Amino acid sequence: MATQNKTYNVGGVQMDRPFKIRRLGHFGFNVVNMDSSLDFYRNLLGFKMSDMNNFASSPERAKKFEDMGITDTRGRFFHYGGDHHAFVLFPKKTLDAMRGVDSGDQNINQITWQTGSLAEVVNSVEYFQEHEVHINRSGRDMPGSNWHTYVLDVDGHTNELYYGMEQIGWDGRSKPLDMYYRKFTEKASLPQPSEEDEVEEAVAKGIDLTSGFRDTEDLPRKFDVEGMLLARPFKVTKIGPVDIFVDDVDAAVRFYTEEMGFTLTEDVQYEGKRFAFLRAGTEHHSLSLWPKSMRKEMGFWEGSTCASFGVEVGSYEQLRNAVAFLKENGVEIREVPASLHPGVDYAAYAIDPEGHAIQLYCYMENVGWQGSSRGTIQHTPISEWPETIKPLSDTYADQTYMGPLG
Ligand SMILES: [Fe+2]
Repeated sequence: MATQNKTYNVGGVQMDRPFKIRRLGHFGFNVVNMDSSLDFYRNLLGFKMSDMNNFASSPERAKKFEDMGITDTRGRFFHYGGDHHAFVLFPKKTLDAMRGVDSGDQNINQITWQTGSLAEVVNSVEYFQEHEVHINRSGRDMPGSNWHTYVLDVDGHTNELYYGMEQIGWDGRSKPLDMYYRKFTEKASLPQPSEEDEVEEAVAKGIDLTSGFRDTEDLPRKFDVEGMLLARPFKVTKIGPVDIFVDDVDAAVRFYTEEMGFTLTEDVQYEGKRFAFLRAGTEHHSLSLWPKSMRKEMGFWEGSTCASFGVEVGSYEQLRNAVAFLKENGVEIREVPASLHPGVDYAAYAIDPEGHAIQLYCYMENVGWQGSSRGTIQHTPISEWPETIKPLSDTYADQTYMGPLG
């Protein structure tokens, strides 16, 4: 439990924790059906692959997986903008075999939060130790180059704090494999050399800076997305919120508010049960905690503790077009009661090949410094969505993805 009155210096500000979560940085699933998941997330939703890592890292390991009937042992990293990865798909059977467990419905690979500095990530280790939060590891992973500390929540979901995600630029190319020697398998000492120094060192070593992975579109770019020709009639512009099922909502709220520093925006009572919506910044919510006892009753897939993973698209027009495009491509679209997506007006839930619900939306209410939410949100069934809508006071007010769209 939190130690009362102890404060930590975060960039010169005395805070209750040695870190401040700024936003959801990335998220991922462990999947059984990798090929169909790849088709869904890469071809239909438009995430671009930034790198792969192969868990069959030696001939002996590869043989072991082969003997177990596991053929695809690679994890995939995806980006929609500059961040090296905003989404990952990892092979569930491979991970289970490596760990010697049946992970069951725990197929969320990670829920990952961005902090503002390397010091925050490193200093979080001692804090989590003091608070008896289970730490998986701290260091720096490649691919992605982000410095991290991994912890478990009270339900066993992997949460990551990170700083310094590799940025993918105009040519869409990731960092060369030859630069992976800057990986860390233990907590980093401070300070560390800057990325510019790392690049200078790589140049001095004769590493080809253009030898990293680059994904290219398979589908024809035939859709006019507000003036830009893309392979699908919309563009993912932000990830989140993440809605998860937990055993005990009260206990999970305590963990995410007290240990992680989230703010409770809204509590919803649905069918007599508590659903809690939490924010890290000015977004209405980045994370919501739903009672697992309602999972089956509400028709959600029992194979996952993820109720839904949100992807924002660039506009209302794109949202309508996304729903039509996904339907045309055989994707099931569902609705979820409006009270369970507070702060979001128009939302549709696409079911991925595994069974996860992917929340498509284009607007989320901003919660300002006063800390109060608007309270009610209009709900219109998808079949009655109008062609155009009126702006709200904060429409287009929090656009963080400014393009290029593709
Ligand atoms: Fe991560």
